[in-house]
Amino acid sequence: MIVILIGYMASGKSTIGRQLADKVNYQFVDLDDYIEEREKMSIVDLFKAKGEIYFRKIESIYLKEIIEENDNLILSLGGGTPCYGQNMEYLKKAINVNSIYLKASIGTLVNRLENEKSKRPLVAHLKTQEELIEFIGKHLFERNQFYSLANETFVTDKLATEAIVKAIRNKLF
Ligand code: S3P
Repeated sequence: MIVILIGYMASGKSTIGRQLADKVNYQFVDLDDYIEEREKMSIVDLFKAKGEIYFRKIESIYLKEIIEENDNLILSLGGGTPCYGQNMEYLKKAINVNSIYLKASIGTLVNRLENEKSKRPLVAHLKTQEELIEFIGKHLFERNQFYSLANETFVTDKLATEAIVKAIRNKLF
């Protein structure tokens, strides 16, 4: 089985993915890390040097490459991965793939992203908390149609990482 973690930036995909993989003895891959390794450039530099359209193109290629070449895998996607190209359609059709939406409220995401903006080219330019709230609100609204196609949704706001990992294990393993 391949378990795909999807959700907005700072929804905990990588942290939860790593712990889940450890618990169930699966391999863990973070799509952003994989892209950085393959392209030999950070996501921030990739956006700067080649632009978002190039990023979305390779993101989709590497997503398929990882899925085709692996099994017993936990894969954390980037926040935008399910929302571009045919990525979500591809994931829904893929055999043995289970997608999980880690759903967090705007408040939770704003709190986390305020301190982590610089690593995220899409929000790095937002200066005030109000700007961040407005941006995330609109962005989540647009992206929800893709996120909500996941096989399972877990609302994560009030839960510690361990509790989320346990809930996913109980559901899928
Ligand atoms: C993006 C999210 C990022 C990264 C890129 C674009 C997005 O991943 O892929 O900056 O479109 O939401 P994280 O969700 O891991 O921050």
